[in-house]
Amino acid sequence: MQRTMLAAGAALLALTALATAQTRPSYAPGPQNITLPADWQQRFVRYATVDKADRKIIRHMYVNPESFAAIRSGQPAPHGTLLIMADTRARLDPQGNPLLDTAGRFIPEPGWIAIGTQQKEAGWGEGYGPEQRNGEWEYAAFTGSGERRNIPLNSCFGCHLQARAGQDFNFTYWDYAQARR
Ligand code: HEC
Repeated sequence: MQRTMLAAGAALLALTALATAQTRPSYAPGPQNITLPADWQQRFVRYATVDKADRKIIRHMYVNPESFAAIRSGQPAPHGTLLIMADTRARLDPQGNPLLDTAGRFIPEPGWIAIGTQQKEAGWGEGYGPEQRNGEWEYAAFTGSGERRNIPLNSCFGCHLQARAGQDFNFTYWDYAQARR
């Protein structure tokens, strides 16, 4: 009886292992690894907003709540972190200059005009050369309405690597964690 149960258990384990191996696709580098979650606007936490005077846009930075709960100052973001940078136009006065709210910040026009993302998962980044690899981060670009943009992403890797290799390859999320505590 006990042996039968053991055998059944072993068979079940083997089956589970097989199923897991089959459902987890093998990693290949590239932006296809990142999916924009359908519910990110409801679920994600906005942790920073950056006014860009030169481009007259506002960048709204969001992160998944699981990562937001786990970040620590001076430490890399946890696996599973998805950073979403969603841009809006700034509202302009008749002369074309950005209008300011009472806090001196730009005022967003409704509607995203572009979305950039970076995501980190265990084992990602394999296959990129040292001149490009950003640890375990991948990048992907989307239109404002969330459609994938098939544009070259070398510059994303290059700039984030050059400026932020010592800060987990990102700008605002690292800085946010530093400032939070
Ligand atoms: C020339 C440098 C440069 C390039 C190229 C670049 N970024 Fe960034 N990125 C920044 C800076 C600086 C910030 C901080 C916000 C700001 O000041 O605009 C940022 C912020 C971000 C953020 C928000 C999280 C963070 O790191 O603060 C994401 C997501 C992002 N970039 C994705 C991308 C993607 C995707 C591309 C390529 C399509 C890209 N970036 C190309 C410099 C760059």
